[in-house]
Amino acid sequence: MKIVMMARNPDLYSHRRIREAAEARGHTLDIINTLQCYMNIASRRQEIFYNGEKLPHYDAVIPRIGASVTFYGLAVLRQFETMGVWPLNESVAIGRSRDKLRSMQLMAREGIGLPVTTFAHDPKQTDAVVKLAGGAPLVVKLLEGTQGIGVVLADTDRSVRSVIEAFRGAGVNIMVQEFIKEAGGTDIRALVVGGKVIAAMQRKGAEGDFRSNLHRGGSAKSIKISPEERATAIRAARIMGLNVCGVDMLRSNHGPVVMEVNSSPGLEGVENATGIDVAGKIIEFLEKTAKPGNTKTKGTG
Ligand SMILES: Nc1ncnc2c1ncn2[C@@H]1O[C@H](COP(=O)(O)OP(=O)(O)O)[C@@H](O)[C@H]1O
Ligand SMILES: [Mg+2]
Repeated sequence: MKIVMMARNPDLYSHRRIREAAEARGHTLDIINTLQCYMNIASRRQEIFYNGEKLPHYDAVIPRIGASVTFYGLAVLRQFETMGVWPLNESVAIGRSRDKLRSMQLMAREGIGLPVTTFAHDPKQTDAVVKLAGGAPLVVKLLEGTQGIGVVLADTDRSVRSVIEAFRGAGVNIMVQEFIKEAGGTDIRALVVGGKVIAAMQRKGAEGDFRSNLHRGGSAKSIKISPEERATAIRAARIMGLNVCGVDMLRSNHGPVVMEVNSSPGLEGVENATGIDVAGKIIEFLEKTAKPGNTKTKGTG
């Protein structure tokens, strides 16, 4: 197969591993820098240009769109979709997962366990929102944050209010969430590929940090998850419409709660912690599934 990966840094562990796995199975994989693609979106003959040349035909596209380039990355991915190139994850699904509020609303509708989460626009509603979330301690987080940046734990109602004010002053959207203390600074990342959990790890925050992101100095180990956690991860992936994703859950007193679903999960932490060939499993899934039109949304909506 001829595969193209949209990624800005070809040397990143995850991108190297996916390329190796594809080549080991006899495919070709070109890595293109998402931001350097350009296209005529109004043409009936859909094309993408790169380095001054028209891209050749590909059987599949692997989007690895960084959070900071979501807008442009999704536009390029939609262009691939209208050209009939099969996407590993569809643009609509990635768009959903990039907005924590939108994701949670979709999952809540389907009965997925979630931390109590509140949201408001008007600063006059702050006290009501804090009360609705159950009062301090609370987690205040950016709707479009990533790697633990923009996730703040506030211990008192007063500090919750000042954190909310600070974010508001910066003109960013936030949500206010119940703090799952019993998770003890750990979370579970379940890697879902093609409707199956193929690997799971437990992450623990660096000493004194409630955030378990590996980018924030957290550590990871392999973990056996419960049938309920497995089912939750699979359902969350299905609701989001993602073929490949990392579902992040907390072990709460009221069962597993999903925090977010990541559409470009990093492979380094999970492959090192579990010894599982995640990249190989992604390519195997792609081989079985990549057929023109074998998508959920056809790039519309
Ligand atoms: N409601 C919460 N209760 C307890 N810990 C949380 C909560 N929300 C987030 N965390 C911790 O903070 C980390 C980062 O939060 P997350 O919502 O995943 O943001 P990001 O997108 O920046 O990774 C999580 O992996 C988890 O360890
Ligand atoms: Mg996270």
